[in-house]
Amino acid sequence: MSSKPRILVTRRWPQAVERALAERFDVLLNENDAPMSADQLAQALRDFDAVLPTVSDRLPASLFDGGGIRAGILGNYGVGYNHIDVAAAKAAGIVVTNTPGVLTDCTADIAMTLLLTVARRAGEGERQIRAGEWAGWRPTHMIGAKVTGKTLGIIGFGRIGKAMAKRCHFGFDMEVVFYNRSRVDAAEAARYGARQLDTVDEVLEVADFVSLHCPGGGENRHLINAERLAKMKKAAYLVNTARGDVVDEPALIEALTNGVIRGAGLDVFEAEPNVPAGLRALENVVLLPHLGSATEETRVAMGMKVVDNITAFFDGREPPDRVA
Ligand code: DGY
Repeated sequence: MSSKPRILVTRRWPQAVERALAERFDVLLNENDAPMSADQLAQALRDFDAVLPTVSDRLPASLFDGGGIRAGILGNYGVGYNHIDVAAAKAAGIVVTNTPGVLTDCTADIAMTLLLTVARRAGEGERQIRAGEWAGWRPTHMIGAKVTGKTLGIIGFGRIGKAMAKRCHFGFDMEVVFYNRSRVDAAEAARYGARQLDTVDEVLEVADFVSLHCPGGGENRHLINAERLAKMKKAAYLVNTARGDVVDEPALIEALTNGVIRGAGLDVFEAEPNVPAGLRALENVVLLPHLGSATEETRVAMGMKVVDNITAFFDGREPPDRVA
């Protein structure tokens, strides 16, 4: 019998990280890399000393009910953790950690990719060529929106919101305004070329591009609903790399169909991997399969952060990225 802590990893991770885990822990990998059921996760909390979930796992309060919990830590592979009922985990005596900092730039890069792709109709253009339907250059072909010099509105001025502000202000000469639930020092905001406004609505009203960078769940569920979409400019675009549930998807489909806003770029969806047919049918939306952190460097760095967090926990030290 191994004296090392027993760890369950719910999905396959980059090899370098799986090796690092195996050096220190008694690891069970989910070899077929399929999402685990609620029953499997509930059992894992009772059979393992640590469970390492991802955004593709749902850990609601019901999984922690009924006692018999063995797990001391949930080392989440990701910065967002609204798929875990953190209060229930805490009540069950489980520490929860995440992976902040290491996916900031890559997620902002995907937000930028979505913004440019939807504004310049790059997805549509690529589809047209692949379908063999391009009839050649003409002055009125596939006209999009200019990005340089426009106004970007950011909702949530954390690490990723700031990285997006930096890209848009210093790279594209954009005026950047943002909403953040707590006050940000004006000098700090200015370092990113950004200015804070008091309400979400004020940001929506002035922005040509709105980029979401707030956490999902709780009060932010459907923060962008029909009423708020109607506050945006008719020529504006919405970009979401945060969490799918921040946007009311049926309301967004309606707004994109009826010209309430001009387009959207989405990397996240409310019921991933299901993307509503109404969104898939629209030309003025760019859809990506939750790629924000999907680079070799970042996915390894995220894994190494989880290793650091659970190593600290089992060594009796405070995990550096403890959220509960
Ligand atoms: C994150 O880290 O929150 C990404 O969305 C992947 O989980």
